[in-house]
Amino acid sequence: MSAMTSPSPAVIFNPFSPEFRADPYPQYATLREAGAVLKTPFGPWMVTRYEPVDRVLRSSAFRTPRGYRDADDPAGPPRFAPAGKLSLHRRLWLLFQSGDSHARLRKLIMKVFTPRAVRSLAPGIEALVTELLAPALDRGAMEVIKDVAYPLPATVICELLGIPAADRDLNRKWAAAVAATVDPICSDAEVQAAEAAMPEWDAYIRELLAARRRNPGDALLDAMLAVEEDDTRLSEDEIAANATFLFLAGHETTTNLIGNGLYALLRHPDQLAKLRAEPALVENAIEELLRFDSPVQIASRTALETIEIEGVTLEREMPIMVALGCANHDPRRFERPDELDITRADPKPISCGGGAHYCVGAALARLESKYAFAQLVTRTRSIELATEQVTWRPSFSLRGLVALPITLQT
Ligand code: HEM
Repeated sequence: MSAMTSPSPAVIFNPFSPEFRADPYPQYATLREAGAVLKTPFGPWMVTRYEPVDRVLRSSAFRTPRGYRDADDPAGPPRFAPAGKLSLHRRLWLLFQSGDSHARLRKLIMKVFTPRAVRSLAPGIEALVTELLAPALDRGAMEVIKDVAYPLPATVICELLGIPAADRDLNRKWAAAVAATVDPICSDAEVQAAEAAMPEWDAYIRELLAARRRNPGDALLDAMLAVEEDDTRLSEDEIAANATFLFLAGHETTTNLIGNGLYALLRHPDQLAKLRAEPALVENAIEELLRFDSPVQIASRTALETIEIEGVTLEREMPIMVALGCANHDPRRFERPDELDITRADPKPISCGGGAHYCVGAALARLESKYAFAQLVTRTRSIELATEQVTWRPSFSLRGLVALPITLQT
């Protein structure tokens, strides 16, 4: 099937509609059945099914696109932020590297972001969850995003990187301004807001690096300053850029895993009851929650050369949305894909990507959410949703709630 004759999903796919935001899965199902690779009505291609999604992520024929597409002209040429700090950081973010330069940078970062460094955070994470839940347990109510789902990963990533806890919300403010530019499609206004925030954030990180050079500690920033591999080191620009990227990537996604996951359990009280009855299911439950409502819905790629996939020709450099959230509900891969089943054998969601760019922080995100969900069910007798209607954040590729009010009984 060529690009000209592939089914047009124009009628069924509107990712900007409130219905899609509230529940994208019915539209995804129609798209997935219409084809494994489709041209969206607003320009980019979309890969919908699990197997080709996995294949594209693992293929060296595609790369993550460094440019972004203008929301007013998503099928147009890639745009780049004007020369400046935003452009510098985006160019050096691990996610937007490819080939040998990606392999080099990733090797250096993985040398400091080790499983051991993550495991060593476990007692601190468990204690932080206990502390964050305490006032809510006293009150019998909480707003999950504000009270736990945001402060938990944001505090942990500050601790891991070596950013003082008192500066957490300052970093969050900068990150919020810059986050939109990770989306494959963003508006000029979003790019301008990110450009306005980045010089301050960059200066802050460089000051911190200078202080840590004078007075080294044992955080990731110190390790990044010292790391060496195959006679190569990280430059200060690379460290500054990947500090902002790790802060960005390290908090909002996990916030959304906790928020989307708890919201899913609250809408499936039988599953919440199962977890309450058997907290040892928590790790499997997290895989299923990642699958059921993925915090990252879209990964972006472009083909290095014109390529045919699933019988569809994708032109070089055209934007491709690799639809992780859609693939996670593919009936070719999962039995009863729209059912939440925390006892599902080997859920294997594709929510953390695959191949060369597989998520660096997946184990950390799993660790944080393990303690959050475990304590939520073991320290309460019941949890209930305290609103009839939730609001989803407007991001296209990151899926998460603005707020999640609940009541709880101990
Ligand atoms: C539930 C939480 C998380 C989810 C669902 C998630 C998802 C993802 C996905 C899908 C990718 C691949 C993107 C692509 O291939 O285009 C990715 C990459 C990445 N993630 Fe995560 N992530 C999570 C948490 C974290 C955390 C906690 C950190 C850091 C502390 C992190 C750091 C990164 C980095 C550095 C990359 C880029 C890797 C590369 O390009 O080689 N993530 N993540």
